[in-house]
Amino acid sequence: MKWNLHRMADPLEGGLLNLAYMSKLSKWRQANVVTGYNDWYQQNWDYSRRIHLYESILQNEGLNKGPVDYMEFGVSSGASFRWWLQHQTNEASRFFGFDTFEGLPEAFGAFEKGAMAATLESIGVTDIRATFYKGLFQDTLLPFLDQYKRGNRKLIHMDADLFSATIFVLSQLYRFLNDGDIIMFDEFAVPTHEFRAFQIFADSFYIQYEVIAAANNYLFLAVKIKK
Ligand SMILES: C[S@@+](CC[C@H](N)C(=O)[O-])C[C@H]1O[C@@H](n2cnc3c(N)ncnc32)[C@H](O)[C@@H]1O
Repeated sequence: MKWNLHRMADPLEGGLLNLAYMSKLSKWRQANVVTGYNDWYQQNWDYSRRIHLYESILQNEGLNKGPVDYMEFGVSSGASFRWWLQHQTNEASRFFGFDTFEGLPEAFGAFEKGAMAATLESIGVTDIRATFYKGLFQDTLLPFLDQYKRGNRKLIHMDADLFSATIFVLSQLYRFLNDGDIIMFDEFAVPTHEFRAFQIFADSFYIQYEVIAAANNYLFLAVKIKK
């Protein structure tokens, strides 16, 4: 600190952090067996492969056999939200969608602040099981959890891209997590964002989990909580 090290190190910081977390991700992959669907290794990335992951956990985890509480963090135009509404058909299920609906609150790689904005009205969801919460998770999640009635198995979908958003949500949901709850990630293979958030969360809260599915070279991942 005395020598203002940051003046020299600042330009290298992003690259070094990325390298460190790429290495941690590589180590993590070796240490964690995927017990269900896994398409590793693919020559190229294909975003549509996330549907294979959804289908596999829907089937293997019997997610249609009873009601679930589906919570999606990062709804944007609602593509994944609508998929789950259409495929998890239990009448007693509840679907909660959280987003600013004004786009990313900060830059994410090549995406600028405000990217991915879609209005709530444009999503076109009329299913009465769905409720949306507009605003920053940092503002909407705590009031939601204060009145949340526990019961159904939880299917949590982390699709906010950002480290800040992901670590905030996971740490607030911690005390609501039960054995068998599932957390899905949509950008897990981005080392300094969702992976970093999950690793810090799991290590700091001593979370036990099983990796139940991975798709698109680990970009999409699903873990099941063990308690
Ligand atoms: C990749 S998009 C979601 C894509 C969507 N799940 C789909 O399948 O089409 C990421 C979304 O996360 C939202 N987001 C990121 N950080 C947020 C935060 N802290 N609070 C609220 N929304 C956030 C952005 O507004 C953006 O719409």
